[in-house]
Amino acid sequence: MSQSQSGAPREAKSFYVKTFGCQMNVADSERMMSLLAEKGMTPAKAASEADLILINGCTVREKAVHKAVSQLGVYHHETKGSKKPPIIGIGGCVGQLEKQALFKRAPYLDFVFGTDTIDNLPEIVSRVENGERHIVYAEFDKSMDYSTETKVLGAKAQAFVNIMKGCDKYCTYCIVPFTRGKEKSRTIDEVLNDMARLVATGVREITLLGQNVNSFGKGNPNTKDRTPRELQNRIGKVGPREGEENFPMLLRAIDSDPRLAKLRWIRFTSSHPLDFSDELIECYAPVAGSARAEQLGLQVGGVSKLAPQLHLPVQSGSNAVLQKMGRHHKIEGYFEQMDRLREICPDVGLSTDLIVGFPTETDEDFQQTLKLLDRVQYDNIYAFAYSPRPGTRAAKLKDDVPNSVKNERLNTLLKHQLAIAEKRYASRIGKEMEILVEGLARHQNMVDAPDAGKSAGPTGQKKDYPAGSRVWTGHTPCGRVCNFVSDSPRSLMGRFVRVKITASTSLSLTGELIHDPFEAERSGEILQEMSAPISSEIVG
Ligand code: SAM
Ligand code: SF4
Ligand code: F3S
Repeated sequence: MSQSQSGAPREAKSFYVKTFGCQMNVADSERMMSLLAEKGMTPAKAASEADLILINGCTVREKAVHKAVSQLGVYHHETKGSKKPPIIGIGGCVGQLEKQALFKRAPYLDFVFGTDTIDNLPEIVSRVENGERHIVYAEFDKSMDYSTETKVLGAKAQAFVNIMKGCDKYCTYCIVPFTRGKEKSRTIDEVLNDMARLVATGVREITLLGQNVNSFGKGNPNTKDRTPRELQNRIGKVGPREGEENFPMLLRAIDSDPRLAKLRWIRFTSSHPLDFSDELIECYAPVAGSARAEQLGLQVGGVSKLAPQLHLPVQSGSNAVLQKMGRHHKIEGYFEQMDRLREICPDVGLSTDLIVGFPTETDEDFQQTLKLLDRVQYDNIYAFAYSPRPGTRAAKLKDDVPNSVKNERLNTLLKHQLAIAEKRYASRIGKEMEILVEGLARHQNMVDAPDAGKSAGPTGQKKDYPAGSRVWTGHTPCGRVCNFVSDSPRSLMGRFVRVKITASTSLSLTGELIHDPFEAERSGEILQEMSAPISSEIVG
């Protein structure tokens, strides 16, 4: 066992992981924690109590890199001079991109690892325990295959499953192809086996993950007798890829696998309009044989487990900007896709990513983005001010939109969307929805009064709910946060409940519980799908 500078042994028995960035990083952190738990380590409640501190960093914008590196400084400062200073490592997209350079900025750092070397983590930690320092493990895996088994820490009702990794799109502004490497997909069979294992442990909702999940299957031969129609794309650029596995094929295989019968919802993120085929849109359709499917003239029905939710990043409403961003499609094609999707699935909850202040973006271009919001009616947007990333093609363009203009456009965009979201959320009032309960709401005293027919902001006051009642939270099938009150003393976490939506804000919905799973149990109805084991719970 090595000694630290203070002379204390550097044995790592506990760990703490701080995550920045997207859902891929969140899933990667869960993998890191699972691997460390398999090594015999235990999670610490706070960084200050951990023997090993890991930062899983993001590089998508300059600010994100600063955040990760300054967090390193905070941890170092907090633990400096302690009798047993922790081992500190940094990974994720920051590790992949910056490699050795990070030791110059943070000499106290013990190791750096990348997005393709997460599985080496236990070995790296052992090497540091044995006295090595400044280790870098950030090579991309050069093989063409991608095979992995999902790791989750503890039992849960929701899980992320990586189905592909990397990105071949090379949008001109984006660093991700450099931090996540080339696109590679798992095979359908492997994904199904993985999901079946998770469902057997109680998982009921799975989010399929990848930078561009709808290009899943590229390069994987279609060896099984799964024969969908050829992929058609209204945007036109990407043609059908006969003989390869593809994303709609995966969704349909999930829907028909008997081992996944208890899986309630599939969600996915993220996607690119270029791979958003007609076949994928039709997966959102009503099930085969229904009157509505016939009315829509569909040859096959939809995927019953696919949640009516879609995050489809568009980035800008201006064709001139889309072209400079290297998105390879026009905004009209995107509108056609959205129109067809709404026709097939009117209740779909839509969200997107947008960048303002891309080089050369004029006021007129920006107006086109505002018009896009009016046209598509998103529930939610993720908007960012353009940040040049070294090494990308856009970084060679003059960053000619001043920061003040970028910020002004960002604020205008967000304000514009707020009014749309308020209306979109209010349109759900009166509807009944099924919620998979994720836990207690963070603000137990910030629930809107259940006041049917009204759209109300958070009252900031606890309503007069029955004694012992608590506010629970989860997502609706269309992906919106929904809070509701239950007076049950038992945990609802990981259970499905039915609620009637009674109020809304531009950020969340309030529901009234109309189906109490415990009441059903008491009356003898056995709700097997609700008895999923849970990993942890916050007792209010
Ligand atoms: N693969 C997804 C896609 O194609 O949209 C997600 C990419 S990235 C992880 C998430 C979002 O960050 C992008 O959709 C984009 O809006 C934003 N983004 C990427 N590079 C950026 C940059 N240089 N400046 C500002 N925002 C950026
Ligand atoms: Fe980045 Fe474009 Fe790939 Fe998304 S599709 S990760 S925005 S390069
Ligand atoms: Fe950031 Fe990497 Fe995700 S750059 S957004 S953590 S893929």
